[in-house]
Amino acid sequence: MQMLDADDESTVTEYGTGTGTGYSTALMCHRFGPDKVTSVETDPGVAGRARAALDRCGYAPRLITGNGLAGADRTDQAERTIATMGVRGIPWAWVRETAPGGLIVATLRGWLRSLGLVRLVVEDGQHATGQFIAADPAFMMAWQQAAPANLGMLPG
Ligand SMILES: C[S@@+](CC[C@H](N)C(=O)[O-])C[C@H]1O[C@@H](n2cnc3c(N)ncnc32)[C@H](O)[C@@H]1O
Repeated sequence: MQMLDADDESTVTEYGTGTGTGYSTALMCHRFGPDKVTSVETDPGVAGRARAALDRCGYAPRLITGNGLAGADRTDQAERTIATMGVRGIPWAWVRETAPGGLIVATLRGWLRSLGLVRLVVEDGQHATGQFIAADPAFMMAWQQAAPANLGMLPG
């Protein structure tokens, strides 16, 4: 979250609400206020448990159950976008739903276990540029992009 370089006024979209606790979502609600936070979780069971946990903490951010690779169905653009699951490429919807000058922080992953944390600046809703900022973020891959059980014969 530190990498988001956000301030008190920032609006945030998070992809990957949680392992059942909604921990990072709760941190963002505390930091920015629940009305500034949107979080998307693809697993309905996990989403339900995270919602209940956040509710117990008194936080009611905008929670969406669905495939975050398709975005967060925002009518506005978030100033910050963060993914706590790995993706094979930055989904176009994340660029579109982040304000110009806003940041996207996400883990890029490949099927051969390569991974790295990237931070991108969105230029104009059409482009985002940036660089790798860390090599070892340990996030799982988006379920929809998980590697097939057998990758077949790999060339030497
Ligand atoms: C490492 S966990 C997130 C941890 C969480 N932020 C926390 O603080 O507890 C990754 C989450 O991403 C979710 N996920 C995987 N693919 C997704 C997708 N396409 N869209 C949204 N969430 C996804 C998983 O179901 C899992 O709950």
